[in-house]
Amino acid sequence: MASTGPKQSPASSSGQPQQLSLLGSPAAAGSDDPFWQEPPLPPEQRQQALDELAAEIARCTRCPEPVATRTQTVPGVGNPNARLCFLGEAPGADEDRLGEPFVGRAGQLLNRIIQACGMRREDVYIFNVLKCRPPGNRTPTEVEAANCWPFLLRQIQIIRPEFICCLGAVAARRLLNTKAPMGRLRGQVHDFHGIKVVVTYHPAYLLRNPSAKRQTWEDMKLLLREMGLPVPQQEGN
Ligand code: URA
Ligand code: URA
Repeated sequence: MASTGPKQSPASSSGQPQQLSLLGSPAAAGSDDPFWQEPPLPPEQRQQALDELAAEIARCTRCPEPVATRTQTVPGVGNPNARLCFLGEAPGADEDRLGEPFVGRAGQLLNRIIQACGMRREDVYIFNVLKCRPPGNRTPTEVEAANCWPFLLRQIQIIRPEFICCLGAVAARRLLNTKAPMGRLRGQVHDFHGIKVVVTYHPAYLLRNPSAKRQTWEDMKLLLREMGLPVPQQEGN
């Protein structure tokens, strides 16, 4: 079961630095869901576990096309003890070049969204469904997403976030195992093994359709309320 009470009071009432309320706690500790059978790693061991997983990802050759065209793998970045993870689709050209997710134009917009929520990029964890850039930035194939799925699960099991925000339909459909359209995925809180999941538009979609930013802000407000964090009055850009 998802945890409820502890660690979630807003900074203003708890008197704690806000940073603390962004750190993770076991999403489903105490549940008998086999997904969580392994005990949580101590927080100070999670970065090393993620590093070891990243080395494994770098050796992966399961998908012939991305493996042939990738510069490097792009496992993920951020706080290994984050309460909140952002899940994107796949690395683009900038990410393939730098080895870090969401560092191009879409990443700049994601950073502004994170900041508008009163957080910093280094407070959260950011990863993608695919750890390699698909040639020409095409949509990941079903086989590629299935090949990469165990890496994502392992990342989630290491970090044990309480919340995942899916960026776009590809991430949401894969995580939630659904074919539902964006319109039905947004605006509600989904469950992934006790982790609360909120879906919003992909920042690359927002760059092409700026009017949808208003709806993404609604999604972020839903997320912040669920996290017990203060909801800023004004949308950032
Ligand atoms: N788009 C994504 O889905 N992920 C990235 O890392 C960059 C762009
Ligand atoms: N459709 C998608 O697939 N993703 C979005 O972010 C918006 C619409």
